[in-house]
Amino acid sequence: MFALHHGAAAAAAPAVSLSLILVCATTLSLAQNITLSPATTTTNASLVSAILDPSFAGFGIEPSNLFDFAGGETANALSIGLLQNLADYSGAPPHIRLGGNTGDYALFDASYANFQVGQNPKATSQGTIPADNNVIGPAYFEVLERFPKDTPVTFGLNMAYYDSDYIDQIVRTAQAAVDGMKNVNLYSFEVGNEPDLWLQNKFRNGSWGGKTYMKEFLDRADAVYNQVLKPAGYPATFFEAQATASTIGTTFEIDMLVADGMLNATNGNKYVSLWNQHDYFYFIGVTTSPMTLDDLMDLDNTETQFLYWKQQSAIAIQDTGLPFALREMSSVGPIGMHQVSDTHGAALWTLNFFLYTATLNISSVQMHMTSNSNASAWQPIDLYGQGPHVRPLYYGHAAMAQIIGGGNATTQIGLLDTTPITDTSYTGRIRAYTAYSKGALQSVILINTKPANASSTTKGNFTFTLALGAANADTSVFLSYLTADGSDALDGTTWNGMAYADADGTATQVDDTVVSLRTSSTGDVTIPVRDSQAIVANIGHLLGTVGVLDGEGHNVGDTTTALPTCTASSAPSGTAASCVEPTGAKKKSAAVVRSVHGGGCFAAAAVVAGMALLT
Ligand SMILES: *[C@@H]1O[C@H](CO)[C@@H](O)[C@H](O)[C@H]1NC(C)=O
Ligand SMILES: *[C@@H]1O[C@H](CO)[C@@H](O)[C@H](O)[C@H]1NC(C)=O
Ligand SMILES: *[C@@H]1O[C@H](CO)[C@@H](O)[C@H](O)[C@H]1NC(C)=O
Ligand SMILES: *[C@@H]1O[C@H](CO)[C@@H](O)[C@H](O)[C@H]1NC(C)=O
Ligand SMILES: *[C@@H]1O[C@H](CO)[C@@H](O)[C@H](O)[C@H]1NC(C)=O
Ligand SMILES: *[C@@H]1O[C@H](CO)[C@@H](O)[C@H](O)[C@H]1NC(C)=O
Ligand SMILES: *[C@@H]1O[C@H](CO)[C@@H](O)[C@H](O)[C@H]1NC(C)=O
Ligand SMILES: *[C@@H]1O[C@H](CO)[C@@H](O)[C@H](O)[C@H]1NC(C)=O
Ligand SMILES: *[C@@H]1O[C@H](CO)[C@@H](O)[C@H](O)[C@H]1NC(C)=O
Repeated sequence: MFALHHGAAAAAAPAVSLSLILVCATTLSLAQNITLSPATTTTNASLVSAILDPSFAGFGIEPSNLFDFAGGETANALSIGLLQNLADYSGAPPHIRLGGNTGDYALFDASYANFQVGQNPKATSQGTIPADNNVIGPAYFEVLERFPKDTPVTFGLNMAYYDSDYIDQIVRTAQAAVDGMKNVNLYSFEVGNEPDLWLQNKFRNGSWGGKTYMKEFLDRADAVYNQVLKPAGYPATFFEAQATASTIGTTFEIDMLVADGMLNATNGNKYVSLWNQHDYFYFIGVTTSPMTLDDLMDLDNTETQFLYWKQQSAIAIQDTGLPFALREMSSVGPIGMHQVSDTHGAALWTLNFFLYTATLNISSVQMHMTSNSNASAWQPIDLYGQGPHVRPLYYGHAAMAQIIGGGNATTQIGLLDTTPITDTSYTGRIRAYTAYSKGALQSVILINTKPANASSTTKGNFTFTLALGAANADTSVFLSYLTADGSDALDGTTWNGMAYADADGTATQVDDTVVSLRTSSTGDVTIPVRDSQAIVANIGHLLGTVGVLDGEGHNVGDTTTALPTCTASSAPSGTAASCVEPTGAKKKSAAVVRSVHGGGCFAAAAVVAGMALLT
């Protein structure tokens, strides 16, 4: 869990906008607006992603913390509930990478029975922390098995260890993984964590570099394949090769490893299944500039910081034909930053990051979690004077999972051009993405990350006019909100009206208002998005209310049981329509459209522009 950065997050000073108040007071027109005309089919879109894996938006778990997340002798109900929610929304459980620095410290011992990672009292191997420092036993797999059925797991094997019995040791751990994972799905092996940093942590010495790594990687893959995978019927291309974690003076870039022979050493590419990349938006102690929530919420900074990895992903996908996964990612490493990574602003950043990386065809993203990280989607144990609890950024995962589920395993994501933005106070704060289902436009995701503190009584908004085309004329568009009192809020974030219980992750519908809009006769609809809020505008029904299919064609976990009945046809085109919840739905009471409060400027604007109403 360490990554050096190329291009530190720039500290952009937000311009303060006075225009918002002035515009409101003097005119009904909305300065902060943009009109977008998304292609209504993928064939007409200029660029859309490949179909997303329903497990796309996943988590990394630091191996030393597996028992905290999965539980010891007793299962961790919060982790399991939260993972199951996401599986129900997207159609498949989130992809888990069980790897990190501590994966290179542990050896497997079948006689070690404890429900915890053990300390090896006789550690003798090399390394600042020795490569045989820890011991895991069968309980490690027993607790992993508690995760949702078929959870895809990338399992980190210890490659740092290179005492004379290293082949026996890695084969033993690999065999335990194959034997121990029945409920969850062993998806791949990662071999070693961030080997480009191994001179620093003294795992290796002398002439260690990309070429020696390549040889040692293939040597171990060969043994694990022939002794473990092949007899068990697994394919040879089962190993994720680590690309560089550092961008400075590295010999571990993908094209360098390929030139060294990574993909051709043994009779063509026999072993590498995927390029396993790590990054953090910001890493304390490495990134030199100071870090603020405002920086995180400037989405231009994300793209600047990610530029190098964007290039690497293109090389991986286009030049090597292999998938590129971001197996270790987070807003702030190594263990987050209070009042930045644990805020509602981080939830918006998370949703945007998933969508952005999807448009780059990155195959999967794992947000890394340690027990003590304020950037983990939930805290699994008692710590910092607090019990286990869900952090706002989990709601970004929930939103992404429902967006993916909305396409029934056919979801493709596109990025809409939101430049230029005339009101510069919104520069870097506005993003819009499309989600397609079976090739047809299903939803538009509207993100406004302009900071708005919870304490601020006058929050601005940015209005999107969507020209959804003749195919979507006179159609209902339902809005799902990723919202909270403000960007700095540490709790109170909701997604699609839901909140998740700290006890076991159960979703409760805390806001059962259903907001829908009717498109005009030409398919236009106007949607204001409050500062520090995201909205998914879903065509035809509320996101999450129509069945998502699992791999076997069964309906899985809808959050609400039926499509709201909408009386929109009686409402004027382009205005909010009232939708009533059918009886028996999980939502608690009949839903009503949010009413216009306060009159004045906003109410007038709503009538004129037919806007959705704000929370
Ligand atoms: C968008 O902003 C422009 C320029 O301020 C304004 O003329 C127009 O009326 C606005 N459009 C909407 C739909 O509010
Ligand atoms: C898509 O583009 C094709 C050709 O460019 C055009 O004929 C067709 O009408 C378009 N379809 C839609 C739904 O816009
Ligand atoms: C992503 O993959 C799709 C489908 O293969 C392709 O059409 C698109 O151009 C790719 N996007 C990028 C950014 O390479
Ligand atoms: C490298 O480390 C190994 C194992 O700790 C040690 O035996 C060897 O002497 C070291 N070589 C150099 C050049 O430092
Ligand atoms: C494998 O890669 C190496 C390094 O680029 C190259 O010298 C060699 O010719 C390649 N072998 C094959 C069989 O392509
Ligand atoms: C994480 O946040 C809590 C407050 O929720 C704080 O007490 C703790 O010091 C933070 N931990 C770190 C490592 O910053
Ligand atoms: C998913 O597929 C099922 C069965 O074909 C269908 O009933 C449902 O409407 C689909 N859901 C979405 C969101 O398209
Ligand atoms: C929000 O609060 C922080 C900390 O008090 C302050 O620095 C920042 O200027 C405020 N931002 C806004 C948009 O009010
Ligand atoms: C949204 O912003 C416009 C100005 O752009 C303003 O007229 C309106 O009152 C705002 N709405 C709310 C609810 O703050």
